[in-house]
Amino acid sequence: MAKISKVWARQILDSRGIPTIEVSCRLDSGEIATSSVPSGASTGKHEAIELRDDNKDLYCGKSVFKAVQNINDVLGPSVWGLDVNDQEKIDSRLIELDGTENKSKYGANAILAISEVATKVCSYANKKPLYLWINDLAKRAGINSQTHVSTPIFNMINGGLHGAGNLDFQEFHVIPATSKKFDEALRCGVEIYMTLGKDLERRGAIHSVGDEGGYAPNLFTNADALQVLYESIKQSNYQIGRDVFLGLDVAATVFYSNGEYKIRDKSTPLNDEALLEYYKQINSQYHLALIEDAFYEDGWDSWKKLYQAFQGQLTIVGDDLLATNPERVVRAIQEKACNGILVKPNQVGTVTETLKVIKIARDAEWKIISSHRSGETNDSFIADFAVGVGSDFVKFGAPARGERVSKYNRLLAIEQELLRK
Ligand code: PGA
Ligand code: ZN
Repeated sequence: MAKISKVWARQILDSRGIPTIEVSCRLDSGEIATSSVPSGASTGKHEAIELRDDNKDLYCGKSVFKAVQNINDVLGPSVWGLDVNDQEKIDSRLIELDGTENKSKYGANAILAISEVATKVCSYANKKPLYLWINDLAKRAGINSQTHVSTPIFNMINGGLHGAGNLDFQEFHVIPATSKKFDEALRCGVEIYMTLGKDLERRGAIHSVGDEGGYAPNLFTNADALQVLYESIKQSNYQIGRDVFLGLDVAATVFYSNGEYKIRDKSTPLNDEALLEYYKQINSQYHLALIEDAFYEDGWDSWKKLYQAFQGQLTIVGDDLLATNPERVVRAIQEKACNGILVKPNQVGTVTETLKVIKIARDAEWKIISSHRSGETNDSFIADFAVGVGSDFVKFGAPARGERVSKYNRLLAIEQELLRK
């Protein structure tokens, strides 16, 4: 039984150059692991709180020195001496110590950093790959799932808060068929990504990339972005509806105000009925496989209408709506608001609570999508996590940029390892 003997943290930078936390953990048996946490831009208001210093003279208010200090002085010492196999106890110690609903006292970023590094270092002590140790934890949480190398959802075009272009919708996805092995799915994503880049160049559209590695073009409308993507796929060796499918993360909270949604596709703002009609039109043209955050994060009635209109046809995914929060997931199941969840550990703040949310969603037969954040580090924890909990899909951005491909590359290694067994 290995025990935690020391935890220490530092401030590092994420992929946007914004400070985040890196933490190390040593066991009395000698193993040391290091882990870091990501950060969102289109952050939902129901997420656990990421603690920042808010001191304008330090990193424009974005530094996390207080959260680092919280780890070094309070949270870290509180888990010294605990059995590292007892993830549930480690996490409940951190939750109790913070004592707030949304982890605002010590910061969800500080708490998650310790929770994840404990999982990682325990896998070293147990001489197990991280995804297998996470699978053990998932089973302990009652999730009845085998390890599974998930199907990638590639974010090919970045709009909203992630893109330098002018699109309102945040993400335009290409999703390979779930029957493909991961390495074939990755190849498919890369080939379409390259074709799309050339296509945008030929059209004279901006083809530099946004926060998640997808292109951030200057197009006229959101529907134009889907059309460009559609045409690039047609030029590639893949067939839409057979080899690949299209999806959207609308992230609608960002362009919602006072009951209306303002998008460049329409000259006047839309109410929820009109936006739903527009989604129906888009869907009849492009046969989407998935739509995420189609309405704003508290628009429960609009979500229910969407579910009524599209259930059985496509996966309706809640991200900002659910915020990886167990109560919100239970409500969404009861009210029939969606049938898929974007799982982001930093929205809730510990590994154990994330597993609890997955258990609830799985029991309702929802699709599970394990997700990165738009501000990432090269840590590939989320790739092991996705495989360990048996996620149906992963969302790690475009197949480009170091912090995105570190996750895809990790899935390649895991798939090879699992096939060798
Ligand atoms: P975020 O975006 O990390 O900026 O919240 C990801 C998403 O909305 O899925
Ligand atoms: Zn989202």
